[in-house]
Amino acid sequence: MNYGYFDDKNKEYVITDPRTPVKWINYIGALDFGGFVDHTGGALICKRDPSLNRITKYIQQMPSSEFKGETLYCRFKQGKGYKIFSPFFVPTLDPYDRYECHVGLGYSRIISEFYGIRIECTIFVPLGDTREIREVKITNKTGRDIEIDAVSVVEYTHFDALKQFNNADWVPQTMQSRCIREKDSMLTLIQYAFMRRETNVNFFTSNHPVSSFESDRKRFLGDNEYGTWSNPLSLQMKELGNYEANRGDNIGALMHHLGKFREGQTKSLITQLGQEQSFEKARPGIEKYRDPEAVSGELNKISEFWDRFLSTMQVETPDPNMNSMLNIHNPRQCLVNKSWSRYLSYYQLGIGTRGIGFRDSCQDVMGVISHIPDDSKELLKKMMMIQRADGSAMHSFNPLTMEGSAGETEDWTDRPKYYGDDHLWIVLAVTTYLKETGDLGFLEEVIPYYKKDTNDKSRESGTVLDHMRRALDFTRNDKGRHGLPHLGFADWNDTVNLRTGAESLFITHLYGKGLLEMIELYNHMGNAEAAGSCQTEYDKLKKIFNETSWDGKWYVRYFDYDGTPLGSNKNEHGKIYLNAQSWPLISGMAMPDRAKKALDSLNKLLNTSKGIKISWPGFDGYDRNKGGITTFPPGAKENGGIFLHTNPWAVIAETIVSNGDRAYRYYAQINPAAKNDIEEEYECEPYVYAQNILSNEHPQFGLGRNSWVTGTASWMYQAATRFILGIRPRYNGLEIDPCIPKKWGNFKVVRKYRNAVYTIEVKNPRHVNRGISQFKVDGKEIKGNLAPVFRDNRNHMVEAVMG
Ligand code: GLC
Repeated sequence: MNYGYFDDKNKEYVITDPRTPVKWINYIGALDFGGFVDHTGGALICKRDPSLNRITKYIQQMPSSEFKGETLYCRFKQGKGYKIFSPFFVPTLDPYDRYECHVGLGYSRIISEFYGIRIECTIFVPLGDTREIREVKITNKTGRDIEIDAVSVVEYTHFDALKQFNNADWVPQTMQSRCIREKDSMLTLIQYAFMRRETNVNFFTSNHPVSSFESDRKRFLGDNEYGTWSNPLSLQMKELGNYEANRGDNIGALMHHLGKFREGQTKSLITQLGQEQSFEKARPGIEKYRDPEAVSGELNKISEFWDRFLSTMQVETPDPNMNSMLNIHNPRQCLVNKSWSRYLSYYQLGIGTRGIGFRDSCQDVMGVISHIPDDSKELLKKMMMIQRADGSAMHSFNPLTMEGSAGETEDWTDRPKYYGDDHLWIVLAVTTYLKETGDLGFLEEVIPYYKKDTNDKSRESGTVLDHMRRALDFTRNDKGRHGLPHLGFADWNDTVNLRTGAESLFITHLYGKGLLEMIELYNHMGNAEAAGSCQTEYDKLKKIFNETSWDGKWYVRYFDYDGTPLGSNKNEHGKIYLNAQSWPLISGMAMPDRAKKALDSLNKLLNTSKGIKISWPGFDGYDRNKGGITTFPPGAKENGGIFLHTNPWAVIAETIVSNGDRAYRYYAQINPAAKNDIEEEYECEPYVYAQNILSNEHPQFGLGRNSWVTGTASWMYQAATRFILGIRPRYNGLEIDPCIPKKWGNFKVVRKYRNAVYTIEVKNPRHVNRGISQFKVDGKEIKGNLAPVFRDNRNHMVEAVMG
């Protein structure tokens, strides 16, 4: 069963049934201003921070039938009163003749027909702007003349999102709304929390005369709120109450009498919701966007932006679902992640200290560095500002205040107070940036370390190279009884929280991979001595790893505080972990025969038809000594669920051993585009990756959750483009090293790299998995498989023959 279809030509997914299993969302704007809009027109909007500066009240946990954040009502006369309906289906739930939500890049467009009235509403945030625009076009298809009113509605939240939910005394006393009447009967409602009257006012306005308004929810719904969102009693009156709220639950409702529509006639209306220091400051922008031409101009700019963004890499492979993801949806999700980290989604509430995750954003940025290198560099710098002088990193930071948070470690007195892996990711992110851009000067930029003195000045600074070095040094000096890196409170897997002294094999490999990256970088810079010192450390680590961590058929995942292994056949639960098998290949530390065995064990014990499980068997009961993992039932999330972020690492590992068939199978089996026809089971948006799918240890095997903001997006993109298709930026050129299924005869990639465009045609006449036998650049045969750097804004032809 499906709820819509992919329209790749228009770069949209079109939802055709509004009763999706959970709300399906789309992102508009970015962290500077924006949020998400759901397929029934609800929107969660904030400016620069969802936690500390939120604008609309959007309560994810309310039933899908409920009003969330924003809506639109239409009405026409019926009997003595009015027939009221929402063109978004929610909250009035009227029967519709047509419903479509076009999930586009940077916009959503809802097209519906109710009672012979066609309404098209396009919702977006202009690029770099601080307002949400809704352009509504209403067409009369009833076959007769009809008078239509349109009532646009927003519900506000207190700017401090958490306070809105945990304080029902102070919050309502602070909320206020005022009406500003303008020329030609136009009107703007402003809303603020009293303490922000002079600094942050929300504005809600339109480009049509407003005959009346309401700003108090109780009055709008009527009958002391025994009126409902599905039937607000005030909408049975000709006009709204014109009440300027002095407290309470503030809304903005604007009554537009659009007048008589002849059959076939269309009229349009534009609303704006934004935030500025004052109405006066907002006025020029408000006036600009009352003009439909300005609005369509901005929509064009959005599509130009996306065309440019996506043109960084376009592929033609034999798999249409892969093409759809790689050409449109996967890079879009990567950009959303770059903006929001794990902060805001339908599942991540954007409340409290979660903020921008250090490890998360380091990985997210790797998915967009080739598309937006400058913005990526800015984010890298911000992250290094929350790295401590000892090389370790704060777990997350608030984007508005740049205040770091150590994560959840505070509550656990018998566990370490830092995460063992966070800081190491910066090495991978920076070297990815350097290989893409060649911008080695970045290594010399000076960036302050986290921890400020009382004057808010940083106590210490260092170059980017110094930040990377200190990251590695922290782990070099933080090892346990076997000489392997300490786990800290947790590594990448947040939920395995062992007592102080435990060692992590994941960190071993992440550190090892970081050392490999530094060796390559130092050699490129001509610093043989520094490269040598990293090599010595790497060799030492590799030796210890190989002496301690082989369990017979696979590698172990942790050593607990007392030295007992976890992720071993000896354990009753958590016998085998996915990351413990894939990462020894990524770090280059696995012995070839063991690597093969480990990957076969992974395949046998962890793979399912719907993705690879993170571990097996799941823990069956809470065990404080193991930590968060045991809070989930077996088969859910990190406790043996299909935790999708880990799957691309298995894809990469299989390409390293040249098993292109298995790598592709692992890729294709979790492609959300392939879930479109089994939505009754999967439930999440088919156009983005979800974080997790319940595994076969759980009664609801196949159910996806926590879509959009997940490291799966960046890593699936990297796994597919850099490892399966094998288009890998190196310091000295673009390496072409595909590892594909044998049945593929050829594929094509157009890739921008260092100011040149590479059209890469790969042929596989002998149907092999890997290996290039002939390589031509611009018609000339070249030894090896490295296309040179051109930087000449020209097109270059690369032809590679496999086998
Ligand atoms: C969540 C966290 C991420 C972590 C992962 C595994 O996605 O945001 O940081 O690595 O879970 O625990």
